Amino acid sequence: MSMRLGFFGTGYAGLVTSVGLAEVGHTVTAIDKDPDIVARLSDGTPTIHEPGLPELLIANLEAGRLRFTTQAEDAVSMSDIIFLCVGTPSRADGRADLSQVEEVARTIAPLLDDYKLIVEKSTVPARTAYWIDWTIRRLAGSECEFDVASNPEFLREGSAVRDFLQPDRIIIGADTERARSLLLDLYEPSFHCPIVMTSVTTAELIKHVANTFLASKISFINMVSDLCEELGVDVATVAKGIGLDPRIGSHFLHAGLGFGGSCLPKDLSALMKVAEDHGVDVSLLKEVERINTTRVDRLLAKVERALWVMRNKVIAVLGVAFKADTDDVRGAPSLAVVPRLHRAGAVLRVYDPAAVRNLERLYPPDDRLTYMESALEAVRDAHALVILTDWDEVRSLMRTPIIVDGRNLFEPAEMQATGFEYYSLGRGEATFRTERQRVRI
Ligand code: UDX
Repeated sequence: MSMRLGFFGTGYAGLVTSVGLAEVGHTVTAIDKDPDIVARLSDGTPTIHEPGLPELLIANLEAGRLRFTTQAEDAVSMSDIIFLCVGTPSRADGRADLSQVEEVARTIAPLLDDYKLIVEKSTVPARTAYWIDWTIRRLAGSECEFDVASNPEFLREGSAVRDFLQPDRIIIGADTERARSLLLDLYEPSFHCPIVMTSVTTAELIKHVANTFLASKISFINMVSDLCEELGVDVATVAKGIGLDPRIGSHFLHAGLGFGGSCLPKDLSALMKVAEDHGVDVSLLKEVERINTTRVDRLLAKVERALWVMRNKVIAVLGVAFKADTDDVRGAPSLAVVPRLHRAGAVLRVYDPAAVRNLERLYPPDDRLTYMESALEAVRDAHALVILTDWDEVRSLMRTPIIVDGRNLFEPAEMQATGFEYYSLGRGEATFRTERQRVRI
């Protein structure tokens, strides 16, 4: 059964969800206040970098199942279900800023004609639905018919379209039978994954807890990686060794620069505030946050140890997005690493396959900061190469660490020590093959 859906907000969650629900056959009207965004999307040009999105956007615009508008009235009157997908950024004190959510509630209230189901998609603190309900009821009058439900999204940037079309679970938080059955009718026919039915507050909490748990898992393995470094042990092998236990699981055990992005850091701090407001001790989560913020310090200490004096050293920075397959730099380690290396006097050559423009806006180029068009251009003549994002393109720069040095430019012993399989002319090579095998074990 095709349903009529309205979306407030066309950011990551709003855009991917609206396009995805149009793709499975529903009629979708998505609203954004910004006429430029509406014009671009109506034209079939995504406003975010997301694999698979351009094709689905165009297909559903052409099929007439999807349209974008600045007019809230249209979307409300033409929809059975209204999704709230506006941003809930962090306030200075770490709490979620709910002003955009409140604004949508105030916008919707006078437009309600017949029954509407209003659904929170934005990540919000537990009990936000009560405030939405209260706001609308105050402005629309008590006889107005509506429910507020929660249906959190678990989309990851970079694989959001796939995550939407093949979810591992769907959470429906609804406190009335009418809301529950409308959301079941929406999802059950098209998605064949477990559907967890809960109260609204439980669903709100599930989203915050899921992201906080993921953040905790990352900080845990990063703490372990510090210990591995001291013991001369490879953390990736430790992660593999523990991850095969299904109670632990192998995902989100990749040690490195820690978690960034627009969700994990924000949701961790928002959940801490909710817990503190309810008198719950959050020292465990404070440590998760502290470990994460020290990752960049650790990386910079290594750069300094390797180069000693930073002034005028040419450093190639590869990757500035907070993770691969996105152009998003929100919460990315590059936001700290680039200015700190710059302040230290280094000459930076920065490259990212998708996110350069977004960093450039924050840190305009100057005589010591250049944004490059290719990775190879960035690394040419560099004293050091600093990798900040796990792009495949960066990985494939040196897919197999083999150097055949026809001019004997490097010292075999030094190359061997760095783990390269190094061949030169007239200086022997058998020992290097052995070394590589040892490194691989
Ligand atoms: C996250 C949640 O995964 C998703 O379910 C939710 O809807 C939105 O927030 P996202 O922000 O897109 O998604 O990124 P995610 O893939 O979770 O990665 C977050 C950060 O953790 C990235 O900076 C990533 O590099 C880092 N990370 C991830 C690690 O450092 N190690 C890991 O093992 C996994």
